[in-house]
Amino acid sequence: MATYDIDAVREQLLERVARSESPREVLRAPELKELYGAIGSLDPAERGVFGKSVNELKLAIEAAIEAKEESAADAAVVPLDVTAPWDTTGGPIELLRTSQGSQHPLTVELERVVDIFTRMGFQAIESRQIDDDFHMFGSLNFPDDHPARDGYDTFRTEEGFIPPAHTSTMQHRILKDGRDKLEKGESIAAISYGRVFRNEDVDATHEHTFYQVEGVFVSETATLGDMLGTLRSFFEAYYGQQLKIKTQPAYFPFVEPGLEFAIEKPAALGGKPGEWLEMLGCGMIHPNVLEAAGIDAKKYRGFAWGGGVERLVMLKYGIEDLRHFESAKLKFLRKFA
Ligand code: PHE
Repeated sequence: MATYDIDAVREQLLERVARSESPREVLRAPELKELYGAIGSLDPAERGVFGKSVNELKLAIEAAIEAKEESAADAAVVPLDVTAPWDTTGGPIELLRTSQGSQHPLTVELERVVDIFTRMGFQAIESRQIDDDFHMFGSLNFPDDHPARDGYDTFRTEEGFIPPAHTSTMQHRILKDGRDKLEKGESIAAISYGRVFRNEDVDATHEHTFYQVEGVFVSETATLGDMLGTLRSFFEAYYGQQLKIKTQPAYFPFVEPGLEFAIEKPAALGGKPGEWLEMLGCGMIHPNVLEAAGIDAKKYRGFAWGGGVERLVMLKYGIEDLRHFESAKLKFLRKFA
């Protein structure tokens, strides 16, 4: 009967486990197979002891394999370095990607609006989100205690500051800053855009917080016709198609005459002929407003307009509820991502 040196085989196989890249394969080693095969050929008297030894050998090898596999797994884990940039650790970047944000649709559209006016030669400035009574009313020809103030019901801090109810609060600043230009024979052409606030009961068409864009143009020759041409050009550029426009008289203390400006809802956006949408308020700047900013109203004339941004965007994308914009609902926001 052949003799088997189980200890020698154990040593060999353990060494093979230590060196192997895939140690589990050592369990299929021919040496082990041979030992197992031998069990059956032994005398029953020897079989028990031998079989037990072979089994112990197999268990020892398995234990060595498991130990090796465990330490390999430990080595594969990248230690978490909380100071590392997210993109170096492999796993977390995926997490980051699935929750990555995008620009708010109003930001994107506002940039488009600003871009169109900038290309038309208007300087663009952001409006203020806190202002005072003079810029909100006084400089805009609202007499003290005049009922027209009621149309701009907004909030007021205890110190008397006002979150502006319209971007017209920027008119006085634009006019004052532009005076030098007029003296040099240039015109004032600026837009102001930003958040405005009103004390509204919120519903599908009213929000306490929304965005407006205001335009101011002053020169020696500005006319109402120039204004209508400017506005039509803007709307046609924004909607990418020709549009019908119309106006009707309206009252704003800071313009004379004052108008409401409407466009016909384009068929491409679901409009029927004769379906008019009021887009903004506008008019020739009131002489008192020019004079309050130190501009000679006998020599210079100007026009101004102001209107909501959400309304523009709602028409463009068929959005039915104004409240979506401030809702922070991802389902809505992701449509624009
Ligand atoms: N500020 C006015 C509003 O919000 C709109 C407007 C701006 C009207 C400029 C005329 C001129 O209602």
